[in-house]
Amino acid sequence: TTPLRLGIAGLGTVGVGVVRIIRQQAALIEARTGRKIIISAVSARSKDKDRGVPLGDYAWEDDPVALATRDDVDVFVELMGGDAGPAKDATQAAIKAGKDVVTANKAMLALHGQELALAAEAAGCVIRYEAAVAGGIPVMKTLTEGLAGNEISRVMGVMNGTCNYILTQMQATRQGYNALFAEADKLGYLEADPNLDVGGIDAGHKLALLASVAFGTQVNFDAIELEGIQNITLEDIDAAADMDFRIKLLGVAQMTGRGLEQRMSPCLVPSNSSLGQLEGGTNMVVIEGDAVGQIVLRGAGAGEGPTASAVLSDIIDIARGLRLPTFGQPANTLRKARPAKAAIP
Ligand code: NDP
Ligand code: HSE
Repeated sequence: TTPLRLGIAGLGTVGVGVVRIIRQQAALIEARTGRKIIISAVSARSKDKDRGVPLGDYAWEDDPVALATRDDVDVFVELMGGDAGPAKDATQAAIKAGKDVVTANKAMLALHGQELALAAEAAGCVIRYEAAVAGGIPVMKTLTEGLAGNEISRVMGVMNGTCNYILTQMQATRQGYNALFAEADKLGYLEADPNLDVGGIDAGHKLALLASVAFGTQVNFDAIELEGIQNITLEDIDAAADMDFRIKLLGVAQMTGRGLEQRMSPCLVPSNSSLGQLEGGTNMVVIEGDAVGQIVLRGAGAGEGPTASAVLSDIIDIARGLRLPTFGQPANTLRKARPAKAAIP
């Protein structure tokens, strides 16, 4: 069988993690897919940076669009980030050139997912993005495959590792909010623009993607009622603790008779509940389906290894020939949901 050839754009936390797994687990991956997975070419902004993994075997492209359209690339792996710009340009170029796409970029998909999904389907390509939602937790596969026979009534959870880390560390270490950024950065949790994390926007992007797949609706990030954690103080955390609660940035999407509710905001949860006990960069996603009942998924929501693990799962699906539509059903069959204000603010 022919090898599956990758072009990887972005060699930061996630990109390096993907290169590392492909180098270290080549035999295991070949045994599971029956194919070799090889990296043909890579791209990042700076060619000379030492990234802690050997890159000399791979061709280098300064321009991600050139990388995405190379003849020796079957799958374009987009790990640069940014809702538009080079990430979107190169993704569109890859699709136009008939390449499949794997990305961790929730911002791009939450804002342009419908357009990209339509383009991919027209070109006969697939877009996979397991890593975009809840890092290492296989939540997209759970929804699109494991729960495909269920009508989903609600998805909810904690979906931003940075916010969860900052909130739990504020309580544990008494450090202020700003001091904790450096630690979150060291752990590889932060978005290039951390305002996306603390503003709740990154978690909102994830909720928008989950809602689309769960309810068969066109992704609609603008309809999310959004509030971040920027205004949470140590005093707020102490007041919550006095009542035996913790503050979590919680997202909920549910279909109601009035339309689709989507909200992402700081909430009080009981300290001894599983949500209350969620520490560090951990995420938790709860899915409710008519046949299955309630499913709870918990695990690392950010960082090199967990996120690269999710990227690899998509690459392996493609190597195995699995060609699911982007949002679990053809993009032209996704409904435009009427946005509804959350009943509980
Ligand atoms: P980083 O900032 O660590 O890495 C980004 C990489 O993209 C860098 O290697 C950078 O190059 C490269 N890059 C940026 N702009 C360009 C450009 N114009 N042309 C070529 N290369 C470019 O980001 P992460 O690895 O943390 O995140 C990557 C993606 O994964 C984002 O979409 C993010 O939202 C998503 N994600 C991240 C998670 C995490 O835990 N970190 C978890 C889940 C998703 P250089 O190194 O030379 O500057
Ligand atoms: N910045 C994101 C987070 C990365 O903290 O959860 C994972 O998507």
